[in-house]
Amino acid sequence: MDYVQNLPRLFDFADLPETETSGNGLTGQDIISVDQFDREKLSNLFHRAHEMREMVERVGSCDLLKGSILACLFYEPSTRTSASFIASMQRLGGSVIPITQGVQFSSVSKGESLPDTIRTLEQYSDVIVLRHPELGSSMRAAEAAHVPVINAGDGAGEHPTQALLDLFTIREELGTIDGLKIAMVGDLRYGRTVHSLTRLLMQYDVSLRYVSPEMLRLPMSLMNQLIDRGIKVRETHDVADVIENADVLYVTRVQKERFSDPAQYEEVKDCYKLTPEIMQRAKSTTALMHPLPRVGEIDPALDDDPRAAYFRQVKNGMYVRMALLAWIY
Ligand code: NCD
Repeated sequence: MDYVQNLPRLFDFADLPETETSGNGLTGQDIISVDQFDREKLSNLFHRAHEMREMVERVGSCDLLKGSILACLFYEPSTRTSASFIASMQRLGGSVIPITQGVQFSSVSKGESLPDTIRTLEQYSDVIVLRHPELGSSMRAAEAAHVPVINAGDGAGEHPTQALLDLFTIREELGTIDGLKIAMVGDLRYGRTVHSLTRLLMQYDVSLRYVSPEMLRLPMSLMNQLIDRGIKVRETHDVADVIENADVLYVTRVQKERFSDPAQYEEVKDCYKLTPEIMQRAKSTTALMHPLPRVGEIDPALDDDPRAAYFRQVKNGMYVRMALLAWIY
C-alpha cells in the first residue's frame, strides 16, 4: 500500500484566488516574456508565492507536483536560476532532469539543433526551462515544444522569472510598488533582467532612474515605450544623482559575455561600486538589490546592512518559481 497517498494533504492551497482553479491564466502556457503578466496575474502569483513560503517554512515540501518532471536546459552558465528551478520543483514533490553542467556534455556538442533537443526532452518531461545565448531562442523552443517552455534568459533579451522575483522582492521589502522611485544601475543595455523588470514596472505608477555609462544605456525601444506610457523617467551617468531619493537601487553586473570588443568591456567594467560610504547617503529604507552574480558592483562590506536585499531576493526567487510552476500545471 502506498501510505503516502493516504496521508492528508498538508496544503491544498484552497484559499487561493478564483482564477487559480478556473483553468485560465497561465495553465499550460509557455513563459516567454513578462508581457504575459498583467497586474491581476502578478498579484495572484505573489499571493501564491506567499503560500509557498508558508508551506516551505512549515513542512519543507509538498506533493503538489508529485510525479512531474522538469527539464532544466542551460546553454549558458547559471548558479541561481538553475538551482532555484530545481529546488522549486523538488519542494513541490516533482523531479528534475538537470542539463546545467554545460551542454558540451550533451548531444548539442554533436551539432544537434535546439528544436531537436527540445523535441527530445519533452518526451521525458512536463515542462522545460531554457537558458540560451540567442535572443528569441525561448520563442523558437516554445514553437517546437508541446510542453510549456519557461524562458530562463534568452541572450540580452528577457529573463521573466528573474523580473517576477525582483518585483515580488520590491513589494516584500517596501510593502508597495506604486509611488516608488526605482533606480537601475550598471549594464542597462545588455542586462536582460533590467529589460524584463522595466517592462513589468511600466504597469505601475513609478518613477524610474537609469544610471549607466553612455555605452550601456537602456535600449532606445524600451526608453520610448516608457515615455509613451507616461512613466516618469530620467537617465544619468552618476549614482550620486539618484542615491538620496531612490527607494530601490537595482544594481547589475556589466555583461562581459555580450561584448564583441574586449577593449570596450575593459572601459566600462568597473563603472560603479556601491560601498558603505556611498550607501550612507541613501535612505534608511532603501532596498539594495542585485540579480547576482556580482563582480565588484556591491562591496561585500554591505552584506550585513539591513538594506541589502540581494540574498533575500534569491530566496524569494524559489517561492515565486514554485508559484509559477504550480500555476502552469
Ligand atoms: C542574471 C542573468 O543571468 O541574466 N543572473 C541571474 O539569473 N540571476 C544576471 C547576470 O548574469 O548578470
